[in-house]
Amino acid sequence: MRKAPEGWSTPKRCRANRKTQFLSFMNSAELLNHAKAAALKAYAPYSKFQVGCVLVTSSGRLFKGCNVENASYGLTICAERNAIFHAVAEEGSQMKIATLAVIALGHEFPPCGACRQVIAEFATPETVVWFLCDGKPVAMTMAELLPSGFKI
Ligand code: THU
Repeated sequence: MRKAPEGWSTPKRCRANRKTQFLSFMNSAELLNHAKAAALKAYAPYSKFQVGCVLVTSSGRLFKGCNVENASYGLTICAERNAIFHAVAEEGSQMKIATLAVIALGHEFPPCGACRQVIAEFATPETVVWFLCDGKPVAMTMAELLPSGFKI
């Protein structure tokens, strides 16, 4: 496996081909750009909060998601869960998240509590979650984002 440049996202067990290895080594700016492209597709007529997420799986594939709201508010799905559920549908139950980035147009926040619990379900100790804080990309592990998550 190619060595990733300093500061780049580095899934530890990448078995990807040449094309997907490129995806594995995207830096945070590239990841957040993909997330932004997803945010532009958001369906958020109620909150006007357009959120986008991109994740790279441990096999090097990239999946995007945006929030999709509903007139019955509770049926709304967050961008992160949309991306994760798509990745599971494509890769199956063994899907692991190597890197995930979330961004909102005009806002900054880390993933919400519900999404943290869902990310944790498919995370490894090496999983890195990126988001913006004061205009700068911040990376956190799931141990940092959800220190006492629910487990069975
Ligand atoms: N939202 C996300 O997509 N991800 C989060 O982590 C937090 C919230 C969405 C849900 C809703 O459509 C809008 O942002 C406002 O809460």
